[in-house]
Amino acid sequence: MIAVLMLVLAYLLGSISSAILVSRLFKLPDPRSHGSNNPGATNVYRLGGAVPASLVLVFDILKGTIPVWGAYFLQLEPLMLGLIGVAACLGHMFPVFFHFKGGKAVATAFGTLLPIGLLLGGLLISTWVAVVAITRYSSLSALVAVSLAPLYTWWIKPLYTLPVTFLTILIIIRHHANIKRLFSGKEPKIGDKKTPPT
Ligand code: G3P
Repeated sequence: MIAVLMLVLAYLLGSISSAILVSRLFKLPDPRSHGSNNPGATNVYRLGGAVPASLVLVFDILKGTIPVWGAYFLQLEPLMLGLIGVAACLGHMFPVFFHFKGGKAVATAFGTLLPIGLLLGGLLISTWVAVVAITRYSSLSALVAVSLAPLYTWWIKPLYTLPVTFLTILIIIRHHANIKRLFSGKEPKIGDKKTPPT
């Protein structure tokens, strides 16, 4: 019963779109209809700069970390911890409070993986930072980091490889428009003023 409750709570917490709420607070354009049309930290950075984007990033990470940590302290089964992480990300992608139109869940997925350990968190951040340093593409960095996440997880905590692989597939699918733009050379780099074509 407690496991079902945690699944529902994780989904509801994931459904709180910080990108939309922070944009309203800072009187920025709606990230769902401006920039890349994605309610996420990258797009809020594009539309409003570092301060609101950092708030979105921290909140979105916590949306993943809090329910998984909560479930861990409630001593739920490892499989259930994985499912609760997936539920938080599904909430972010398909938020019940915002007509099921959500983001790509990169930060939230990262948040769900943090309780596995700092080594995994460090590897994922290093991967993201390395790809950004070389290419300046936020989406490509996220795609590379999430693609390596199952491998890192399998090495550090094999038990969680399956839910992490599921998250990787979901996140890659959510980046279909970015992947198209990357191949056509139309994906904006971090700091570019141009907005992505829709
Ligand atoms: O984490 C989202 C990022 O990978 C891409 O965001 O706004 O460029 O589609 P965006």
